[in-house]
Amino acid sequence: MIDPDRAGGPDLSLPNPARVYDYMLGGAHNFDADRAFAERLLEALPGARDAAVANRAFLGRAVRACLDRGCRQFLDLGSGIPTAEPLHEIVRRHDPAARVAYVDSEPVAVAMSREILDGVDGVTISAADLTDADAVLAAPDVADLFDPTVPTAVLAVSVLHFVRDDAVLTRLLDRYCDAFGPGGLLVLSHGSTDVDDERAAEEMRTIERFTQESAQPAAARDRATLRRLLHRVDLLEPGLVDVSRWRPEPGHEPGRVVGMYAAVGEIVH
Ligand SMILES: C[S@@+](CC[C@H](N)C(=O)[O-])C[C@H]1O[C@@H](n2cnc3c(N)ncnc32)[C@H](O)[C@@H]1O
Repeated sequence: MIDPDRAGGPDLSLPNPARVYDYMLGGAHNFDADRAFAERLLEALPGARDAAVANRAFLGRAVRACLDRGCRQFLDLGSGIPTAEPLHEIVRRHDPAARVAYVDSEPVAVAMSREILDGVDGVTISAADLTDADAVLAAPDVADLFDPTVPTAVLAVSVLHFVRDDAVLTRLLDRYCDAFGPGGLLVLSHGSTDVDDERAAEEMRTIERFTQESAQPAAARDRATLRRLLHRVDLLEPGLVDVSRWRPEPGHEPGRVVGMYAAVGEIVH
């Protein structure tokens, strides 16, 4: 476990989205600043945990859709801390030979991921900034893990709102699509304030405001912008919708709208 008092260790005085998110999901991989930030957010917004839970549940459903379409390799950009029904456990239950490359830029999330993944074959964690796609793709734990002939899903779940410049993000998504398409899949969820539900939109505005005091300020995007960013993919049904509405579990009522758009698309060109 990371020792928060170790001299020369990472600065843990600012809350970090990976650890705040872990706290929201009931995990134990977080520190005082993260817990205090999460509690302040929950005080202002008791429903804030719903967004994290709905987002994580979407990840599971999206990954199963990718497995059903033959994907056996998963590049998870901005992966956070792989606890609470993480990607590699879902994927490995389906196919023990499937491969997962986690990527995160935050040193504590990376160190914690390393501890969790120690001894797990075929699952790696790389410390890299997803905005440097060439560095991500060349990282040994990505390049050496993946077989270029195997269909690959690229995940960017609840992370692209930290890339605030639309032009940078467009180039970036295009680069990942070049690397894994056609035939690969792109999975995305993204904070938004123009969902068709005023309570959720207002909540997302509050979350966005809160993140301005965190290590990583976020910027919500509207539906039209996200649709433009996805110009290289054919969206699977039901398209670009709130995470709670993306293929809810059969027989279950979908959860409430939480203000995050979600999509899974096949890279077509
Ligand atoms: C809200 S968490 C989401 C974690 C995970 N994708 C999930 O949905 O469970 C966002 C994660 O993205 C990471 N992150 C933010 N910007 C990043 C960047 N430029 N490169 C890599 N990781 C980044 C953060 O460190 C954090 O772990």
